[in-house]
Formats: sequence, C-alpha cells, structure tokens
Amino acid sequence: MASVSAQPESSSRTFYIETFGCQMNAHDSEKVIGTLVQQGYTQVEEEEAAELILYNTCSIRDKAEQKVFNRLNDYKKLYKQGKRFAVLGCVAQQEGEKIFERAPYVSIVSGSASYNRLPQMLTQLQAGGQRITGLDDRQTEETFETEFTARSNPHRGYITIIEGCDKFCAYCVVPYTRGKERSRTSTSVLAEARKMADAGYTEIQLLGQNVNSYLDPEEKKSFAELLAAVGEVAGIRRVRFTTSHPRHFSRDIVEAIDAVPSLCDHVHLPVQSGSSRVLGMMNREYSREQYLERISWIKAAKRPISLTTDMIVGFPGETPEDFEDTVSLLGEVQYDGVFGFKYSPRPNTPAISMADSIAEEEKSLRLQLLFDRQREIQRINYAKHVGETLEVMVEGYNSARGQVIGRTSQNKTLNFTTSLPIYPAQGSYVPVRVTQSYPNSLVGEAV
Ligand code: SAH
Ligand code: SF4
Ligand code: F3S
Repeated sequence: MASVSAQPESSSRTFYIETFGCQMNAHDSEKVIGTLVQQGYTQVEEEEAAELILYNTCSIRDKAEQKVFNRLNDYKKLYKQGKRFAVLGCVAQQEGEKIFERAPYVSIVSGSASYNRLPQMLTQLQAGGQRITGLDDRQTEETFETEFTARSNPHRGYITIIEGCDKFCAYCVVPYTRGKERSRTSTSVLAEARKMADAGYTEIQLLGQNVNSYLDPEEKKSFAELLAAVGEVAGIRRVRFTTSHPRHFSRDIVEAIDAVPSLCDHVHLPVQSGSSRVLGMMNREYSREQYLERISWIKAAKRPISLTTDMIVGFPGETPEDFEDTVSLLGEVQYDGVFGFKYSPRPNTPAISMADSIAEEEKSLRLQLLFDRQREIQRINYAKHVGETLEVMVEGYNSARGQVIGRTSQNKTLNFTTSLPIYPAQGSYVPVRVTQSYPNSLVGEAV
C-alpha cells in the first residue's frame, strides 16, 4: 500500500498499519489511513519508524487471534521506546477487552463498527489514555464513510455499500465481528462513485459481506438498480461487486448485467457445499437445487458470465457422500475459480460445539481432491479463450518476461506482449488476442 502523508505538516506523528483479511478490511484500512492523515499523522513503512502501530486484523480461520497475539508479542519491546499499539478489525471486536489482559501494552482496541469514533480515540491516546475501546455489540446503525479515503490504486477502487452480516452461518465469525447488516444510502454511494470518476477512476468494486442484501435506507434503489446506476456513471468502465449471497441472488442482477455493458461479466457466488444436507447444517438457507437455479439464470445471460465460488470441506458431519456432492457440483457449474478452505472451528459460532468433527488429515485430503478436480475444469475453461480478443485493464509489468499484466472483465489475468516501443500505461485498456492458456491465467498479444 502506498504511503500517504499529511500536507503541509511535516513534523507530524507517525503511524504504521498492517492489514489482514478480506477486501472489506483492505478498504477499511484505506479509510483509517485517510482518517489518521486528516488527524495530522504520517504513514511510515516500518514498525520501528512509527509512533503508533496499528494491526487491522482478521478472524475468519486458523486460530487467527493467536497469530495476532504472537505478532504483538514480537513487537512489544517497542512499547518501552514510547510506541503505542492499536488492534483494529475482527479480532479486536471478537476478543474485546481481553486483549488488554493478554497484551497490556495495547492502547486501542476497536472493531470496524466503531471507526467513526477513531478521531476521538486518537485524541484520548494523545492525552495519555490507556485501554481505549471502540466495541460494538451489534448495536450500531452507522456506516463508516469518510471523504478522506486514501485509496492505494489510482485507477480502480472500492466502495463499501453494506456493512455487517445478519446471516449467522453456523461456522462464521463475521456476524459477531462486524455488527449487524446496515446499508449506505444510494445517494451517498453514487456521490462517491462520481467523485472517483472525476478523479480518474475507471473501475469500481462495490463491497459488502453480502452486497445483494443491500437495502437503501432512502428506499430509492434496490441492489440491482444501484449496480446499474454505478455502471452508468460517466467515466466508469468497469463495475464489480463482491460478495453475493445465493439466498438473495435475484434475476434482476443478471438483467442489470445484460443492460449495462460496464457491469463486469463475473459473479462470485459462494456455495460452501454441494450437499443440501450440509448446507442445512451450515444454516445457508438454500439447497443445492436452489443454488443451481440461480446459476442457470446467470448462464442464461446475454454475455457469458464467469463464475467463481468459495467452498468449505470437512464441516462437522460431512460424509464422503456429502463431499462427493461438492465435487460433482464443480462439474455441473464449471467455475472459473474456487477458493477452497478446510473447515476451521471458530469461537462463539454454533458449529464449534457440533458433533462428528472431521480429522485434519481427512480435511486436507478432501481439499486436495477438490483442487485437483477444479484444476482440470479450469484448464478446459481457460483454453476456450484462445483465439478471442479481450479487453484488459493494464495492472502492471513483468519486465523479466517482457510482458504487460492485465485483467479481463471476467476478472481473469491476461499477460501480453506488445510490438509498441513503450508499454501501455497502468490503468489503460488494451484489446488483446489470446494465444495461450493455463488453468489460472491467459497469455496474448496486443492487437
Ligand atoms: N459473506 C461471504 C463470505 C465471507 S467469509 C459469504 O457468505 O459467502 C469468506 C469465506 O471464508 C466464506 O465464503 C467461507 O468459504 C470461508 N469461511 C468462513 N468461515 C470459515 C470457517 N470457520 N472455516 C473455514 N472457512 C470459512
Ligand atoms: Fe459469514 Fe455467512 Fe455472513 Fe457470509 S453470510 S459473512 S459466511 S455469516
Ligand atoms: Fe476476516 Fe473480518 Fe473480513 S474475519 S475475512 S477481516 S470480515
């Protein structure tokens, strides 16, 4: 992430921030950085150079809280040099004041639902305050909006449209760490989109734990209408959205993609399991058949829409037959990408006390089988692009290979060569003919 400094104060306080977890966290950090800079702080690249060290944490899997404590422990010696620590994000909300007991040198513990109060927390810190908290027990109706967002990329940027989660899937910490579901007004989302377009952004990614649960507090727009409206903002060439929940995936989203060319032809629709029995135990509130019905709507779109998903293997009680259902779903849907995870028991969640846990080795075996099957599917899917000409947005360069790194509307990586003496600029759009394919990327030549 690029460093941002306050203008014109040069003798300001310094901070270091490190971000873990999902895109929501990445974008929260951009807003936190903007807020700190506005408060007179300057970002630095190393813990050693900072007065205030912030960790924006994630708690989704794998003893995440322990990793945060280990990290804090590694750096606690810096406290004696006057440095202060803040723990933000999902582990902060989950562990709350317990963090002060295990790591007494931490000064601020704040979950994402309290970031509006960061300026006050910083004032308290500067006044010598200790054990400063911003913890929310699924109470707040507020969303975290700031005009000072320090976006790290000048061409494509995130906009949060909905925060929190009310779904309570049996395995998941998010409803306990991010507060209840609350949407921004479509007026404020569109104002931010226009401002980004004016600043030269051409790609916007709408964010939320469940973007399609979006409910405009002003009742002006549905999610599909908001999506279409963002896609119609002058200057915006690509709009993405993540994550969609299958339960709320309605046909009008596909109709919006059909109607508005700037809406990217990619839908990430996490399924978690291909077995209706396991989906029931997970409290996902849809069956395999209902999920496949939504997939059929997406496949009936005018443009081919790329599909990706998240899957969990080894949920308590998942039998070999249930797992077979998950593997067979891969073949049925033909995803272009699968994020697969071994089920990881998480504090506070109902699944932690469920019977019939699956051995770690068995989970690893199932995950490997899942990936092996999916790799074959992707090899075939990606090969279908050879010979096509696709528009890519330039993301970077691989000078060792003499390639430009680009991304297609379907969110596929397409690396290409060009006969021009200079590389096309980052953020520009280039038509590229695909000449070669791999299971995870394409190769081509600029036309
Ligand atoms: N809101 C999104 C997912 C957010 S979390 C949705 O409902 O789809 C991202 C992914 O992490 C989930 O889709 C799930 O596959 C995975 N995940 C969440 N909790 C998990 C757990 N306890 N163990 C393993 N994977 C988990
Ligand atoms: Fe977690 Fe389920 Fe909410 Fe997604 S929908 S964030 S998996 S509880
Ligand atoms: Fe992690 Fe919190 Fe995101 S748990 S995945 S940072 S919502």
